[in-house]
Amino acid sequence: MFEGSEPRSTRPIISHVTALKQHANHGHLILAAQDTKAVGTIAATLLMKLLPQHGDPVVALPTGSTPIDMYKEIALKALELPRDHSHHPARWITFNLDEYDGLQYNDPQSYHAFMQEHFFGPNHTAADRNFFPDPKAPKAYDTLIRSYGGIDVLVAGIGVNESPHIAFQEKGSSFEGRTSLVKLSASTIQANARFFEGRPECVPTHAASMGLRTIQDARNILILASGEHKARSVYEALTLPPSTDRPASCLQGHHSVTWIVCPKIAAYLSAHGVEL
Ligand code: F6R
Repeated sequence: MFEGSEPRSTRPIISHVTALKQHANHGHLILAAQDTKAVGTIAATLLMKLLPQHGDPVVALPTGSTPIDMYKEIALKALELPRDHSHHPARWITFNLDEYDGLQYNDPQSYHAFMQEHFFGPNHTAADRNFFPDPKAPKAYDTLIRSYGGIDVLVAGIGVNESPHIAFQEKGSSFEGRTSLVKLSASTIQANARFFEGRPECVPTHAASMGLRTIQDARNILILASGEHKARSVYEALTLPPSTDRPASCLQGHHSVTWIVCPKIAAYLSAHGVEL
């Protein structure tokens, strides 16, 4: 799945993996990274392996703490590529998963600003290739994604055990939902207060978020998860029957999902009978 049509390399495609298992129930691949940094390194490697060989890749991207190491690794890999190579991040068409409602794009807490710092700036991307859902007109996002031929690779994080969202689709979100304006759960607001000087009252209450149907339409999906506080989110999404109580469980029917998890989550999965 990860080798594309490139000549086989003598170096391992994925390093820093301590365990690798095709999950028996849903064909999902679960990669246990050797540490939290390796979650990002592995994600960058897989993402770039999954990019199509021709044309401008269409990639959906998350913000947050977990993908920061992935963005660092992408920027390093980009240094080895000519800028006109189709896998150079400057050639990617990117769709962010979400953006807060009510923040200006240049607000340091906006997801525009996050991407500028971690991806657009380091890779010198052109603004006309990088898109975000507009809280004022979220529905237009799906039309725009379709106009670029759909998403080749989507990378997402997952919410904490109490709010196991993907993108900002919280408990109760329809599996058939498209991009929309959503209300953040109290627990997500609490979790994200760390980006707002620890003040939950400063976290926007709403965001534009890619819908679960839009996410499932991506051709390949990578989910990154680090920290014990997400172990149950991951376990339940993988093993319990699909339910809107577990938004990430919508992925169980998808043919190409890889979970990249830190050692603590891997240990939780093993302890609860998921073979790794
Ligand atoms: C952010 C997003 C969220 C985060 C999730 C995990 O674009 O869509 O779903 O991926 O809240 O965030 P971190 O990585 O900060 O724990």
